[in-house]
Amino acid sequence: MVELTKRVLVLCALPYVNNIPHIGNIVGSHLPADIFARFCRLKGYETVFIGGSDENGTPSEVTAQKLGITPKQLCDKLYKIHKKIYDWFWISYDNFSRTSKPIHHKTTQEFFLKIYENGFISEGTLVMPYCPRCKRFLPDRYVEGTCPYCGYEKARGDQCEKCGRLLDPDQLINPRCAICGTTPIFKETKHLFLNLDKLSDKLEEWIKSNKHWKEHVVSLALGWIKEGLKPRCITRDLKWGVKVPIEGYEDKVFYVWFDAPIGYISSTKEWAEKIGKPDEWKKFWKDKGALIYNFLGKDNIPFHTIFWPGMLLAHGEFNLPYQVVGLNYCNYEGGKISKSKGWGIFCDKIIEADVDVDIWRYYFTWLIPETKDTEFKWKEFVERINNELVANLGNFIYRTLSFIWKYYDGKVPEPKEYDERDKEFEEFIKNSPEKVERLLEDVRLRDGLAEIINIAIEGNKYFQEKEPWKDKEKARTAIFLSVNLCKTLAILMWPYLPKSAENLWKMLNIDEKIEWKNAGKITIMPKHKINESKILFKKLTDEDVERLKKLVTKPTPLEEIFGGENVISFDEWKKVDIRVGKVLKVEDMPQTKKLYKLQVDFGELGVKQAVSGLKGYYKPEELEGKQFVFLVNLEPKKFFGETAEVMILAAVKDDKVVLIKPEREIENGARIE
Ligand code: MF3
Ligand code: ZN
Repeated sequence: MVELTKRVLVLCALPYVNNIPHIGNIVGSHLPADIFARFCRLKGYETVFIGGSDENGTPSEVTAQKLGITPKQLCDKLYKIHKKIYDWFWISYDNFSRTSKPIHHKTTQEFFLKIYENGFISEGTLVMPYCPRCKRFLPDRYVEGTCPYCGYEKARGDQCEKCGRLLDPDQLINPRCAICGTTPIFKETKHLFLNLDKLSDKLEEWIKSNKHWKEHVVSLALGWIKEGLKPRCITRDLKWGVKVPIEGYEDKVFYVWFDAPIGYISSTKEWAEKIGKPDEWKKFWKDKGALIYNFLGKDNIPFHTIFWPGMLLAHGEFNLPYQVVGLNYCNYEGGKISKSKGWGIFCDKIIEADVDVDIWRYYFTWLIPETKDTEFKWKEFVERINNELVANLGNFIYRTLSFIWKYYDGKVPEPKEYDERDKEFEEFIKNSPEKVERLLEDVRLRDGLAEIINIAIEGNKYFQEKEPWKDKEKARTAIFLSVNLCKTLAILMWPYLPKSAENLWKMLNIDEKIEWKNAGKITIMPKHKINESKILFKKLTDEDVERLKKLVTKPTPLEEIFGGENVISFDEWKKVDIRVGKVLKVEDMPQTKKLYKLQVDFGELGVKQAVSGLKGYYKPEELEGKQFVFLVNLEPKKFFGETAEVMILAAVKDDKVVLIKPEREIENGARIE
């Protein structure tokens, strides 16, 4: 029988790019997903690890509006900041896409049309909050109020952050406009709905069939089913998002939670294109037997156990999640992480702090809220690093390798006869990967790391008992076995501490690949030459901690990041030279589809040439003899061999182009001030 390789798709919830990631975002999805994906790769499973930014809808629109910039400006910059942070943390995404990309818009529209054809979409009118001052409907984050279930006062129109319940805006008590605070009025608008009610039985059956899910995930999901699933609105009165591809919905976009999870598919498609195998994504989404693991925070559980699987069932052609790893929250020193209160650890500062990534990854792994909320504590941070990572794992590795370097010329010694203790230790090495493997298969990441530390503790015990420093000759067996355990540790720790594992691998100077199947094997042979050993992990000192405390608890405010984005100073404005000019002559540039060549009179400044993309908008005779407005101090540029010295100014909206005329005649060359 041929054994099929396991095929695993690891998906991390797509972060909104409306903030700077903090520690809770890292330990609550990216890091656990990365550890698991790395483990799958080590095991030789066909693994793809997919993510991306969630850019559409109100999360970006509302934040951008408050900052006085466009959603695009917001997302473009924050995408880069997010990406840099995940790269810095060695989060090994195979693809990290954006839901603003055309491939995602197309995928979303096709997905929608399919469930529409399948009869799972209905039309209905909704009574929606409308702000009479802002003159707009207030979907999702545009409206805030008190949660009817738990009483939380800052619940949003689509979900209460506190109790996790999905809401409709008309359920909010004391609703108010999130932009201006005005009490909204309620107006009817037409919307599309996903018929979750029709999918309830199938969903229930599917949830119950997932015997391997964690209990809290199952019970939450079944709870919602029991309360009764209602059709859920999937369109919004917004501009920033994926357009709805049917008649009558030209002014609306999809609800962000409708398009975002489809981002998992579009990002996988983009990955397939990037590796030059455009159909490869289907292996994960369509072939039976591929296992999809979703990593997400607990407020995302309803979307990943009900709403998104409902969409997938309605579509009918894609695989549903195999495992939904719903993580709890990570707090900071006794309180909820809050950017506005400056309470927490923020990643833009971590990456500037000059502390090795694996120091953070080590402690952060302990903070993965797998079973309950966790809490970052400075004292515990220092203790875990100094007493566990440095004093156990680091110490065992360093004392073994430096011993070889010092006393055996850097060559692994030939073992002498084995006593009972050596035999026992050899057995221990061989069996050591097994338990870690079981825990990782089960996505029990913290327990896996604890087990690795236990292995290092055993290694240190053995080393200590053997007292190799007393007799270098007798010590050969102990050192031989110890260096082989170092190799095993390098493999086991790679998912958690990838940078250090790779450094250790280099110090060991071995040709084998880092693969799970090589763990637990005695393959480093006598006489093998290792490289000079360096200390893998440095202790944290009191000064380090003082410095870090000041630095990493203060995120750069978004106002600072985007401050000045759309602002020019008075001095800059004075440099901009805009003048009235009269078009003397317009000539076609037949080699191009869009361009005319214009001769323009600027009075005492003389006649200058413009190359303007007006063909298709204006006929030459509509321009000749008339005054328009031009930017005249632009650096000259050539287009198809013709130099543009000045640029004509026009108002542009979508595919409309309208020129600007002085409201009365004025001398040519008059300056606009
Ligand atoms: N952006 C959401 C959040 O940060 C998560 C979206 S997950 C996806 O809470 F499934 F929609 F991709
Ligand atoms: Zn308002």
